[in-house]
Amino acid sequence: LNVVLCVSHLKRTLAMTNLVEEAKRIAAYQAVDDNVLNNTAVGIGSGSTVVYAVDRLAERIKAEKLKIVCVPTSFQARQLILKNNMVLGDLETHPDLSCVIDGADEVDENLVLIKGGGGCLTQEKIVASCTPKLVIIADHTKQSKNLGDRYKKGIPIEVIPLAYVPVQKKIETIFGGQAPVRMAKSKAGPVVTDNGNFILDWQFPPETLNNSWESINNKLILIPGVVETGLFINMASRVYFGLQDGSVISK
Ligand code: 5RP
Repeated sequence: LNVVLCVSHLKRTLAMTNLVEEAKRIAAYQAVDDNVLNNTAVGIGSGSTVVYAVDRLAERIKAEKLKIVCVPTSFQARQLILKNNMVLGDLETHPDLSCVIDGADEVDENLVLIKGGGGCLTQEKIVASCTPKLVIIADHTKQSKNLGDRYKKGIPIEVIPLAYVPVQKKIETIFGGQAPVRMAKSKAGPVVTDNGNFILDWQFPPETLNNSWESINNKLILIPGVVETGLFINMASRVYFGLQDGSVISK
């Protein structure tokens, strides 16, 4: 009986994973089709949903003979661009981007985002700041009323390594909650970002929601040693959510 239960649990988990992957794919495809124009420079975000966006972009570049320069937000994005034989650019030569397509860990009802689950928040925010059109792609599990409803790991905060303990203590004292340093899966040491820094994942207490994210973000940024936060406020211009029923909604 145990084996039967185990197999059916496994099958259900697999079916759910496939649904989420499909939701990511359709959101990404729709976003690329609606927002990428010929002869433009486009920012390429990071994470597993962006992989689908790059697939679609590569398909369109080939089929429609588009001329697109792609500016990456991470080492992963750079690798994706190169693997798909797309034109790699940077902010030095392309400081104005037509749009940026990126994922998110959570999106609240005001389109405030938590980003940085993959540790790329700083470059993602810099690239996002270079466009009037930050387009977010996500599956339905990322949609929430209040931040923290869905993404339970906390708000990622990139810090200069030598400052990680003082920053951790200051965050916990000023705002409450806990801000552990993100450890590598092997537990051999902290995760190191593309910029050579560490990440604190601030698990904020519920009363944080009584304040505005903007004022919290402004205070976090002022702590010496904080490089950037994964709070993206008033940055997303459009969010595409792939739903379980195979449709896409955009806000
Ligand atoms: C990386 C990010 C990602 O966009 C975010 O973590 C979402 O990733 P995924 O599409 O894999 O769920 O912010 O720093």
